[in-house]
Order: sequence, then C-alpha cells, then structure tokens
Amino acid sequence: MDKTTNPIGLFDSGIGGTSIWKEIHALLPNEDTIYLADSKNAPYGQKTKEEIVELSFKNTEYLLEQNAKMIVVACNTATTNAIKEMRAKYDVPFIGIEPALKPAAIHTKTKTIGILATKGTLTSELFYKTVANLKDITVVEQVGFNLVKLIEEGKLESDEIRELLKEYLQPMIEANIDHLVLGCSHYPYLVPQIKEILPKDVKIIDSGEAVARQTKLVLNENKLLNTAEHSRSNLFYVNSDSTVLNSILHNEYTVTKKDF
Ligand code: DGL
Repeated sequence: MDKTTNPIGLFDSGIGGTSIWKEIHALLPNEDTIYLADSKNAPYGQKTKEEIVELSFKNTEYLLEQNAKMIVVACNTATTNAIKEMRAKYDVPFIGIEPALKPAAIHTKTKTIGILATKGTLTSELFYKTVANLKDITVVEQVGFNLVKLIEEGKLESDEIRELLKEYLQPMIEANIDHLVLGCSHYPYLVPQIKEILPKDVKIIDSGEAVARQTKLVLNENKLLNTAEHSRSNLFYVNSDSTVLNSILHNEYTVTKKDF
C-alpha cells in the first residue's frame, strides 16, 4: 500500500518538540504532520525509564492509529530512554533526537563543552555512551531543573527562568566552554535569554536542523517521501490546556484538545 501521502507523526511531552516540527515543516514542503503534545504528563525528564517507555508507547500507538507513516520522537528524554524499545516494538521508521554533542566536540577549541538537558537524558545509557566516546573533551553537564515546567506554563519571559539559567550556566562559563548544547527540545525557546547570559563567542547548538535532514533522508530511503503538491494538513493535539501551544504557534494552526 502506498503510504507516501500519510502524515508524519511527532510527539513530545509538551510544546518543546514544536522546535523540531518547525524545522521539518520548513524542509519538507509536501508533508502532512500530526503533533502530539503530551503536556498532561510533562515533564518527562523527572520520570523513570519505565514510565518514559510506557508514555512513548502510548503516544506512538495513538499516532499509528492516525495512520502516521513515520514517528519523529521530538523529545531527547524519550529518545535516549525509549527509542530502542519503540523500534523493537513497532514496524515504522523512527527518528529520534539526541543532544548534538558530536558536532560540538568536533568544533570546540577550548576542548570544553556544556550541555543543558533533563535528568532523564543525562542519566540515560545512550547519553553515557556518547560522552564516553568523546576523547579529550570535558563535558560540563547540567540538569535544567524546572525549566520545562516553566516553559509549559508559558513563563518564557519570567525572572524565575532567567535566575535559573544564570545559576545553571555560570559554572559552564567558569569552566570556559565555547559550545553549549541544548539537549532538550524545549530549550531552543530560551535562546534569547541564554544569549543574555553567555559570552558572545559561545556557540549554542541544538539538533533541530539535523533532525529535519535525517527525517528527509529516512523518508527517501523508505520511499515514503510525499511528492504530491497539495495544501498541507498540520494537526496539533494536546491533552491539557492549549493556550501555550497556541501562542508558540502564533495561533496559525488548529490546536485540538484531546484525551490520548
Ligand atoms: N522536550 C523534552 C526533551 O527534549 C522533554 C522534557 C521534559 O518533559 O522533561 O527532553
């Protein structure tokens, strides 16, 4: 059966994965998408691996019921804790996001890079293995406690977020990082606030563009790329209040509240 015109399914614990969705939407002009914001269960970052696997299965099954031809796990925490289990269980291509440590390690001059991510990501086996492979590089790790919660509450511009960021980034500045890796899909929404704190020459890296390129590649390899020009359908489902998701999408798309 030809699945090329089926939608790409994406999920995250909330609004963060829209930073990935935006890159995919920009790179792939003929793809329809369905995005699940599982904000009822946010943050994932403080949950156990078992809980994250279970939530990832639930989201995947919902997207497959909507005929998704591929699943983009637009969440570092779900990728690093559950992508192996998802790939083993479901017969569709999965795209995951992992913190972009490798590009930072290639380009660092100070041999010191910082990573801000959730506890779930920083304590995962996948993350541990990636760091272990970076020879001669110091990785300054920091859990972004409470950042996802505040972003989900729409408090991007709050003093609370600015204070937390100062506290989290100061040790990295003291350690002389020249790259900061954003290891959570929510954090690209904090780039303006992060830039106010970091020295100008510190490069901020996220995985959005690379994930979009990988999505295109895997669609191509699996003969799933939609080449039919049409007016695109982009559906957004959220299982708690929709205000923040709507505002992050500038009210340009229909956001539906659903129980999933
Ligand atoms: N956006 C997520 C990530 O990339 C999840 C954050 C959370 O729910 O804790 O890790």
